[in-house]
This record gives sequence, C-alpha cells and structure tokens, in this order.
Amino acid sequence: MTEPDVAVRAVRGRADYDACVSLQREVWGLSDLEITSAIQLIATVHAGGLLLVAETAREGLVGFSYGFAAWSDGAAHLHSDMLAVLPAWRERGVGLRLKWAQREAALARGLALVTWTFDPMRAKNARLNLRHLGAVARELLPDLYGHTSSALHHGLPTDRLLARWELASPRVKRLAAGKAGAPSSSRSLRINDVRLHGGLLVSSEPRVEFDAPRLLLEIPADWDALCLEDAGLAREWQGIVRRAFAAAFARGYAAVDLAAAPDAPGACYVLERVTRRPSRRAGRGRTTTRSRTPRRASRAGRRDTTRAGRGRR
Ligand SMILES: CC(C)(COP(=O)(O)OP(=O)(O)OC[C@H]1O[C@@H](n2cnc3c(N)ncnc32)[C@H](O)[C@@H]1OP(=O)(O)O)[C@@H](O)C(=O)NCCC(=O)NCCS
Repeated sequence: MTEPDVAVRAVRGRADYDACVSLQREVWGLSDLEITSAIQLIATVHAGGLLLVAETAREGLVGFSYGFAAWSDGAAHLHSDMLAVLPAWRERGVGLRLKWAQREAALARGLALVTWTFDPMRAKNARLNLRHLGAVARELLPDLYGHTSSALHHGLPTDRLLARWELASPRVKRLAAGKAGAPSSSRSLRINDVRLHGGLLVSSEPRVEFDAPRLLLEIPADWDALCLEDAGLAREWQGIVRRAFAAAFARGYAAVDLAAAPDAPGACYVLERVTRRPSRRAGRGRTTTRSRTPRRASRAGRRDTTRAGRGRR
C-alpha cells in the first residue's frame, strides 16, 4: 500500500535543495554547521550522487533520500547518506518508496550495491532496512560521527551498522516485487537475556562464544523513550549491543532481519552465518569497544527498564 498523494521524483533545482536543508533541520534537529548544505548536495549530485524527493501538491517536499558516489572493493556504488520523512508523513510507505526508487535509479546507472549506515538501537530503522528492503549488515562502525548536535542521537556515541543492499540479489528482487522474504527455519540461540525491571528493559552481557546457525540479539523496541527515561541505562544498552555485534561479526555472522521478540517487549536482530569469510574490518568494533567502553556489570536483576508494553511489535 502506498500514499497516493505523494510523488517521488529526482531533485530539480535550487529550491528543492534548499527544501532538503530545511528537512534536515526538522528531522534531525542538527545545528547549521552539521547540516549538509545545498552547495554540498549540488556538488555531490553533479558528481554522480542521487537525490530523490517525495513531494505533495499541498505541502511541497515531505521527504528525501540522498546518496553520493562511492567506491569499494574495486567497484563503484552509491552510499546513501540520508533518508528523511517529516514526522506527519511517516508510516505511510513514503520512506520505502524513496528507497525503492533509489534502487531503480542505481540499477539504471549500472550499480549493483547501495550502502548506508544506521543506528543499531533503532528497531524501526532496522526493520525497514533489513526486513522490508533486504539489506544485510556485517560490520559495526563504533562512534562513526563522534558527538553530534542531532536531537536523535541523545548525546550518545554514534555507533552505526553498515547496511549493504545488493540490488540484484534474489532476496531484494523478491522484496521489490512485493513478495515477503521466507523466514529462516534454523534453530536460534539468544545471545542476550532481557527482562523488565521497574518498567524498563535491561539486558545481560551478551554471550560471545557461540556456534549456532542463527542468533537472536534483543534490543528495546522504543529507543527514544529509553534514552529519555534513563540515559545511563541507554548507554549501557549501547555497549552491550556493540559488544554483541562485534563478537558475531568476527565469527562470520550477518544481521539479516529484525523480528518481534518472542514473549518480550523488545525486538530481535536475527543473525545468520554467512558463507563468505568475515569482513577484515568486522572485529573493529570489538577492539574499539574494549578501549573506549569498559564493560559494566549488567543491571539485569537489580533494576527494571523500558516501560512495559511500550512499542511492542
Ligand atoms: C526512517 C524513516 C525515513 C522511515 O520513513 P517512513 O516513511 O515512516 O517509512 P515507511 O512508512 O515507508 O515504513 C515504516 C513503516 O510503515 C509501514 N508502512 C508502509 N506503508 C504503509 C502504509 N501505506 N500505511 C501504513 N504503514 C505503512 C512499513 O511497513 C513500516 O512498518 P514497520 O516499521 O512496522 O515494519 C523516518 O522514520 C525518518 O525520517 N526517521 C528519522 C530520520 C532517520 O532515522 N533516517 C534514517 C537514517 S539516515
């Protein structure tokens, strides 16, 4: 189902670029110095980038996707730097339409890969990227942007998963054709234990020794709510998730889906063993984690976490 009043099209001129600057302010609440300027957008689009906008007749631009030309492993690809939809226009399929249009445009240019980064703590974004679009992640970039002015980042380290969207893979083609991906039937091992304590979700330290074909890593369903409620707990969660991904990626797993947590209010990353060798950089998060974020004793058992039932999917 799509939003019929919204048209997705390529950027046209300076007014569109200026509108994308305003959208950045509204969506991320960034300071002016951290906003990608109209001039920078124009230059990178000229040099092979792609800026698509979502437009309504009455309200003008309500969203955009922006990617720039990138290069890795000897091939050109698109790195999608921003996807934004105004709050009032969310949950209507606009973000997904912008991404599928981005895929079409990239394929038309002969590109087979789009990458982007996303906050591993944001369940909604993870579901969009992994479940609805069919991207996979097998690398975590610890504190990629450092401290930013974005209200969405809550003053926390900016850990990011790197999403790889193989545009012509069978799974992505199936999803592009509107067919849901078949859920894996492999047995799963939970690598963290999560429970409610005082209305908030707390997690144990993750297991780091495992060999199951499929892993589940639980995260809170509503990250913003947890950050606002208990900043210290949010920071603990971030460290736990960072260590869990570092261990899994170093063992050759990839994050392929985000599912509802069985019998719990959180959401679960599904990690599967991939046949290719783990990325050379896959263990980076682990090393950096140890040097930057000392392990803290789990609070599971001593206190409670995210509000019961909030945001459960
Ligand atoms: C991430 C973001 C771009 C998603 O945009 P969006 O337009 O809300 O995304 P969509 O509507 O396409 O998809 C979101 C959900 O709506 C559902 N949906 C899609 N079409 C729908 C429709 N017609 N009616 C109702 N729901 C619909 C999707 O299935 C998805 O559901 P799920 O989260 O329960 O799995 C938006 O939330 C945003 O701007 N966030 C802040 C910035 C950000 O985090 N950007 C990404 C990192 S750069």
